[in-house]
Amino acid sequence: GWTMARFRDTAIERIREQVGDGRVVCGLSGGVDSAVTAVLIHEAIGEQLTCIFVDHGLLRAGEAEQVVTLFRDSYNIPLVHAEAAPQFLAALEGVSDPEQKRKIIGGLFIDVFEAEAKRIGGADFLAQGTLYPDVIESVSFTGGPSVTIKSHHNVGGLPERMNMKLLEPLRELFKDEVRELGRELGLPDGFLRRHPFPGPGLAIRIPGAVTPDKLEILRKADRIYLEEIEKAGLYDDIWQAFAVLLPVRTVGVMGDARSYDYVCALRAVTSTDGMTADYFPFSHDFLGRAATRIINEVRGINRVVYDVTSKPPGTIEWE
Ligand code: XMP
Repeated sequence: GWTMARFRDTAIERIREQVGDGRVVCGLSGGVDSAVTAVLIHEAIGEQLTCIFVDHGLLRAGEAEQVVTLFRDSYNIPLVHAEAAPQFLAALEGVSDPEQKRKIIGGLFIDVFEAEAKRIGGADFLAQGTLYPDVIESVSFTGGPSVTIKSHHNVGGLPERMNMKLLEPLRELFKDEVRELGRELGLPDGFLRRHPFPGPGLAIRIPGAVTPDKLEILRKADRIYLEEIEKAGLYDDIWQAFAVLLPVRTVGVMGDARSYDYVCALRAVTSTDGMTADYFPFSHDFLGRAATRIINEVRGINRVVYDVTSKPPGTIEWE
């Protein structure tokens, strides 16, 4: 019968045949798909693989460090950590249109990735964590099976420009199967459970212009929210949960003084593929607890609201 162990062995054989003694670069995003892709390829061809992690400074609290530690220390996989946060923040300064933000982040991502790939002497293959649903989506939208639309490590155009061939060993898998393969490869469970995270990161969870201050406030609120979700044992029942920092200030009272601070919106949805989603029915108790902690512990936020919009008509993200 078909098992993930057999899929793994077959995939490793195929990668070896395809790559030969060529060199491979793989973009790491901090997410599950690119990590599983990298570890699988590393098992197949070892040091012929180099990973490039373009750190755009838009990840959640602690996530960049976790990825670097996991790859360098636990797996000993060669990893280039491009710390490009200042570049991304400068390019995003004053930009508030959501699609404009995506374009800027995507474009800069490719530039940084290309520069790093050249610095290590280039490669014959570019590895991507494309999944089956990405393949379907791309086919229906663009008519071409090798272009992914929404991907963390979407480096569209780069393979041709740098004369690289694509290596996409997860193309036949769904998200839950990728997690299973990751388990088969020994990736830590805490890492594999991670909710999906959008490529443009926290930039699309700060409606309006992104600033370092707002990023810091959002990271703190988001961390508390996820801590409470973990504590309540709800993390695995949820497809995605995150905080959004609204560009709106409201009046409140703190002790005997008046406050005038930002509103934080909490979002959590259930879904199987991200195409449709229902808002998660937290208890009022839970919501009150999370709100109280965020307002008490995060300077800059004095009001918390919960988003009860399902998709459609809403989207999962706010931008
Ligand atoms: P929406 O907000 O469209 O999101 O309901 C559906 C899924 O896609 C993710 N998402 C993105 N992922 N780049 C990405 O890599 C993007 O620009 C992007 N926009 C949304 C979102 O987090 C959800 O999982």
